[in-house]
Amino acid sequence: MKIRKLMGALCAAGLLCNMAAPVQAAEALSVLHWWTSGGESKAVGVLKDDMQKQGYSWKDFAVAGGAGAAAMTALKTQVISGNAPSAAQIKGPLIQDWAEQGVLAPIDSVAGDWKKSLPPQIDKIMRTDGHYVAAPFSVHRVNWLYINKAALDKAGGKVPTTWPEFFAVADKMKAAGLVPVAMGGQPWQDLTLWESVVLSQGADFYRKAIVDLDQKTLTSEKMIQVFDTVRKIESYFDQGRTGRDWNLATAMVINGKAGMQFMGDWAKGEFAGAGKKAGTDYICAAAPGTDKSYTFNVDSFVFFQQKGQKDATPGQLALAKTIMSPEFQEQFSLYKGSIPVRLGVSMSKFDDCAKKSYADEQMAISANTYVPSLSGSMAQPDAAAGAITDVVTKFMNSNQDSKSAVEALAKAAKTK
Ligand code: GAL
Repeated sequence: MKIRKLMGALCAAGLLCNMAAPVQAAEALSVLHWWTSGGESKAVGVLKDDMQKQGYSWKDFAVAGGAGAAAMTALKTQVISGNAPSAAQIKGPLIQDWAEQGVLAPIDSVAGDWKKSLPPQIDKIMRTDGHYVAAPFSVHRVNWLYINKAALDKAGGKVPTTWPEFFAVADKMKAAGLVPVAMGGQPWQDLTLWESVVLSQGADFYRKAIVDLDQKTLTSEKMIQVFDTVRKIESYFDQGRTGRDWNLATAMVINGKAGMQFMGDWAKGEFAGAGKKAGTDYICAAAPGTDKSYTFNVDSFVFFQQKGQKDATPGQLALAKTIMSPEFQEQFSLYKGSIPVRLGVSMSKFDDCAKKSYADEQMAISANTYVPSLSGSMAQPDAAAGAITDVVTKFMNSNQDSKSAVEALAKAAKTK
C-alpha cells in the first residue's frame, strides 16, 4: 500500500509512471533560503508541503538574516566544499554570477510558457544565454510606507504623499508620545530607506543614479537633497535600533508603539500573521513622492548541479515547476505579502495593499517607472551594491555631511 502511494506521488510529479518500475528512494531536496520571520516561514512552508506531497523530502537550510547576507556566505561555503544545495534563493545579477561559475542546472524543460507569463524585465533576469536557470516566486514592491491606522488617527494626521506632509505627520506622532518611524539596524535596511528617498526624485533620476551609476547624477544637487532628507528622517527613529531585525521594527508598528515604517511588502506578511487588516488596522502607502514608481524585488531559486551532473534532477525540475504554478504563486504571496510574478493569476483573494501593488505595477511597467531595487539585490552586482551600502550606512550612523557622503557615493559606484 505504502509503495503504491509513493509511486502515485512520483507519477503525479511527472516521474516514474510505469507502476512496474522499481521504486527509487525519494529524492531529498536541500533548500537554502533566509525566510525565518513569521510571514516568511509560513510562505516557504507552502512550498515544503507541496514538495512533500509530491513525494520529495525537504532538507531545510534556513540561514536567518533579512536580505540574505548571511545566507549568501553560507552558500559559498557549501558550494566550495562540494555540498551545493539542490536549490538556493538567489536574486538579480547574482544569478548570472553563479551561472558563469558553471554550477547551475538549466530548467528549460519545465519553462515552456514562462516567457509569455512573466514581465519581460523579470523574464530576462531568470535566464542566462537564453536558458532558464532560475524560477521566480513573486514580486515585492520595496517603496512602501506602512502606517499604524490608530496611531495616525491619534496624531490627527493624514496619509503623507510628500516629504513636508510626512514630517508634519511625524511631528504629530512624536507629540502624541509615539516613535514616529520604526527602524531596524542592519545596513540593508538603511539602504531600503535611502533608495525610497532616491526614488522620490523620480524614476528617471533613480535609474540614472542606481542602475546606470551615472557620475553626474550621483554628485548632483538632488542627490545632496536625498541625503539631507534621510538625515531628517533619522531624527524620528528611537534610540534602540542598533542590530534590530526588520520584523521587530514591523512589530513596533503592529503593536502601536511606533507610527510608520519604510519597508518592502514582506512586512505585510507580519501584519497578516498578527491578524491585522489592511485599510482598517494599518495603511500601506507609497513612500512620499513615489506613487508613480515601483521598485521591484523578485525572489527566485536557482538549481545547483548535483554530484557533477549537468542536468537538473527530477526533484529540481518539480521544484521549479511548482514555484511557477498559478496555485502556488497565489498561496505563497498571500502569506508573503507579495503579488504573484506570473501574469494573469487572479487577485480576488488578495487584500487592498496587494491589489494596489498589482495595479501600480501594471501602471509603472507601461510608464517606464518600474525599476529594480538596489537593497533587494536586483540592480547591481555585489561589489558595487556593497560599496554603496557602506556609504549609506556610514552616513546614517555618523555625523557626516551630505556633500561628503555624495562624493563617497560617486567613488563607491566605480567599484567593480
Ligand atoms: C528580501 C527578500 C524578501 C524578504 C526580505 C527580508 O531580500 O527579497 O523575500 O525575505 O529580504 O528578509
